Amino acid sequence: LSQLPKQTRIEEYDIYQWEGFWYLPAHLEGALAIRSHFEAQDDDVIIISPPKAGTTWLKALIPTILNGPRGCKNIDDQEDDPLVKITPQLVVLTLEDQIFSVKNDRNPDLSTIPSPRIFHTHLPYTSLPNSIKNSKCKIVYISRNPKDVFVSLWHFMNYHRDDKQGLFPIEKAFDSFCNGVHFFGPYFDHVLEYWKKSLDSPSKILFLKYEEMKSDSKNELRKLALFLGRPFVEDEEVENVLWKCSFERLKNLEVNKNGIEPHSGLANSSFFRLGTVGDWKNSFTPEMEERINGIARLKFEGSGLDLYI
Ligand code: A3P
Repeated sequence: LSQLPKQTRIEEYDIYQWEGFWYLPAHLEGALAIRSHFEAQDDDVIIISPPKAGTTWLKALIPTILNGPRGCKNIDDQEDDPLVKITPQLVVLTLEDQIFSVKNDRNPDLSTIPSPRIFHTHLPYTSLPNSIKNSKCKIVYISRNPKDVFVSLWHFMNYHRDDKQGLFPIEKAFDSFCNGVHFFGPYFDHVLEYWKKSLDSPSKILFLKYEEMKSDSKNELRKLALFLGRPFVEDEEVENVLWKCSFERLKNLEVNKNGIEPHSGLANSSFFRLGTVGDWKNSFTPEMEERINGIARLKFEGSGLDLYI
């Protein structure tokens, strides 16, 4: 790590830059290992997201569409539903800090996982292993309004601070976010790369927006299932999957209220906060709004990307 060109510190975190994006040390070591070792298979599904854009939601939805029971609301809550006992954080394997982490085997054998295998990563497109780019595996990417992403990230960082440290100063966190110096940032570049690639290869990359998933859930879910080759037939199936993976249901499951995600040691509850659109209005000053709007205008101009900013 010490040989990498850029390193900086945000409060208690050392972060490193690799191929234009910023990483915590454990994530970077994982990212380097994924790049060398991960071999995608043609029927893999790779969930990709910038942190706090709705990863957890997709980690529940995609296995439920592909493998889970789509049946009746009343009978399947306890028995055959992995989401009841295992948090979505564990249902799907996150590559960089879980599977390829320094704490585990650096080159694990993933070939025995039954297909379709589902993985998650926060890696930017630039740094994906070639086998993900070149195989026929599918990528589902989720994006979100950067203002809500920032506020969600800020709360997440505060959640994991101890009382003595107090709140992460929001001005400092915001300045770093705007400068792109945050985990897997710059956010704007992360989203823009996948947006452009999804326009070039719509059958390879499905580009979703958190806001549309919230406002037009049934249509977005139908689109997702069709992309995964498992289209819904009955409207009731769509409703059941949405209910199974709903924020309200998942947040209130025992495993998510009190469980700890074993790989990272993070409380599962930290992945379920409000689950709404527009919470940024409760934390942003007009100056913050103006600054982020300006960056978005500059970065996204001419790209056709509208993130409901
Ligand atoms: P908020 O902090 O705005 O509430 P990630 O999973 O990428 O870390 O993103 C976390 C964000 O997604 C949090 O946003 C969290 O509350 C929200 N979230 C988690 N599960 C969700 C679900 N099933 N439906 C909608 N939003 C969800």
